[in-house]
Amino acid sequence: MKYNTFFKLILFGFICAFIGTSCTKEGPMGEAGVDANQSCLACHSQANVDAVEMQYAASGHGNPGSELGIAGARTGCMECHSSEGFTAHAMGYNPSSNLSFASKISCGTCHGDHRSLEEGISAPMRAMAPVLSKADGVTVFDFEGSSNTCASCHQSRANGNLYTDVDKVYNKDGSFAFSVHADSVYLSSSHASPHYTTMTNNIFGVGGYANEAGEVMGAHKNAGCVGCHMGEAESGKTNGGHTMIASLASCKTCHSSATNFDIGGVQTKTNNAEEAIAQALVAKGILNANHDAVVGMYHKDVFEAYWNYKIIHYDGSAGVHNPDYTEKLIDHAKQKLGL
Ligand code: HEC
Ligand code: HEC
Ligand code: HEC
Ligand code: HEC
Ligand code: HEC
Ligand code: HEC
Repeated sequence: MKYNTFFKLILFGFICAFIGTSCTKEGPMGEAGVDANQSCLACHSQANVDAVEMQYAASGHGNPGSELGIAGARTGCMECHSSEGFTAHAMGYNPSSNLSFASKISCGTCHGDHRSLEEGISAPMRAMAPVLSKADGVTVFDFEGSSNTCASCHQSRANGNLYTDVDKVYNKDGSFAFSVHADSVYLSSSHASPHYTTMTNNIFGVGGYANEAGEVMGAHKNAGCVGCHMGEAESGKTNGGHTMIASLASCKTCHSSATNFDIGGVQTKTNNAEEAIAQALVAKGILNANHDAVVGMYHKDVFEAYWNYKIIHYDGSAGVHNPDYTEKLIDHAKQKLGL
């Protein structure tokens, strides 16, 4: 840690020497009257770096659960679950065998290097390009900014057709087991889901079952993940910035009179509907009492309701990410379950 900081200071010194006068007095590239040294310090002051590190230490990324061990080093998982996996992926390289070592997401996972040191310099990001949906391979997610970094990982891995397209099931030894009737879906795994992270897909209004096509939640897309999750902290609370916990202060930049996240009662409505759908799915046998999936054969109506339930649950915002689309998913699930 000490060495790292020391190294950066030396490097910083080199850069100052390289760009010459602009680090010590008004440079040609700074705004009139702004010392370039000051503009670097907007981010690189000790106080700011300390604050960022404290926020990061309180974040989900700073405190990964067992998923780092389960998925960090594995092919097909590492690109979202470890620093080594993501940095390799961002550079266009996807290892074909498991890594021998994987560490948690850290500063250098998301941040790359400054490519230039000119006016308007921003935090250097490793992955800013639009992101192709893994679930459908067609939709392009583009927040037109640093939130594309988040979208690379916080997106669904599968759509329901991964299950609905299966019409024959085989045994482990490859022999034929049984066929699946056109009206039915075989739920082959208790983990069958879009994966635990559906927020990007939801903001873009894709991935679930609905009677009419979903729409992009334009205003929240424009805010981007960063606009709600990395905004100003609320006084006395640990949120915003690099905690990456959504803050009310960030909502207030647009919803000036908001007093909590439950604007227009959307979260209450979503949570109540989610619970009602879960209870009906328990009654159908596709969820057990803990709301875990039960392997078996189900009518496709039940499967569609199940899939929408997983999408809403793993979105984690109780409808905030895209209120209209969430409502469509709820309506469809209720209709299929006769609620
Ligand atoms: C808007 C915020 C911001 C500004 C302004 C900024 N930086 Fe950075 N800089 C970062 C971030 C974020 C990183 C990567 C994370 C880290 O290493 O702390 C970084 C990394 C660096 C590094 C490490 C090596 C590298 O390129 O990755 C150097 C050196 C550096 N910055 C120099 C400068 C200088 C010199 C200036 C002023 C001309 C400057 N920075 C202005 C945010 C900024
Ligand atoms: C496209 C990116 C992506 C890929 C690929 C991916 N994951 Fe994840 N996974 C995530 C994200 C993001 C989370 C964290 C969601 C959250 O906490 O909001 C997560 C969460 C998890 C969790 C924690 C679930 C819980 O109970 O909270 C497990 C376990 C997991 N993933 C396993 C895997 C495995 C195993 C693979 C490979 C077979 C894999 N993941 C591939 C993005 C991905
Ligand atoms: C999960 C991705 C991610 C990780 C991990 C991450 N950052 Fe950032 N960081 C961002 C994004 C996104 C921005 C905002 C960029 C923008 O303004 O659009 C940012 C902005 C910054 C800034 C400028 C704004 C500010 O708050 O001062 C600094 C400095 C910075 N990061 C340093 C760090 C350091 C140091 C670490 C490790 C402790 C770190 N970051 C870890 C994504 C990340
Ligand atoms: C390299 C993939 C990756 C990137 C990039 C990434 N995340 Fe994550 N995120 C994860 C994983 C995986 C987890 C689960 C904790 C862990 O294993 O680090 C997670 C956890 C979280 C959590 C905590 C979730 C919880 O249930 O407590 C939030 C909030 C979050 N990320 C927001 C963001 C935001 C905002 C960005 C962009 C600035 C971002 N993430 C970028 C992979 C990523
Ligand atoms: C309009 C604001 C907004 C936008 C845009 C937004 N989020 Fe959220 N997000 C929220 C709110 C509010 C919650 C619920 C937090 C709560 O109830 O404590 C949430 C919940 C989450 C969670 C669940 C874990 C947690 O922090 O409670 C994750 C992970 C997450 N969002 C990631 C993202 C990612 C990644 C993006 C961009 C693809 C994004 N969000 C865009 C507001 C937003
Ligand atoms: C960039 C501006 C912007 C930000 C930031 C933003 N929102 Fe929104 N939000 C909007 C707009 C615009 C609408 C659409 C208003 C409408 O439909 O009447 C909206 C609609 C909503 C709705 C639906 C309201 C209803 O009555 O149906 C909810 C809920 C919501 N936002 C929650 C949040 C939360 C929570 C945050 C902060 C975590 C947040 N928003 C941050 C602009 C924003």
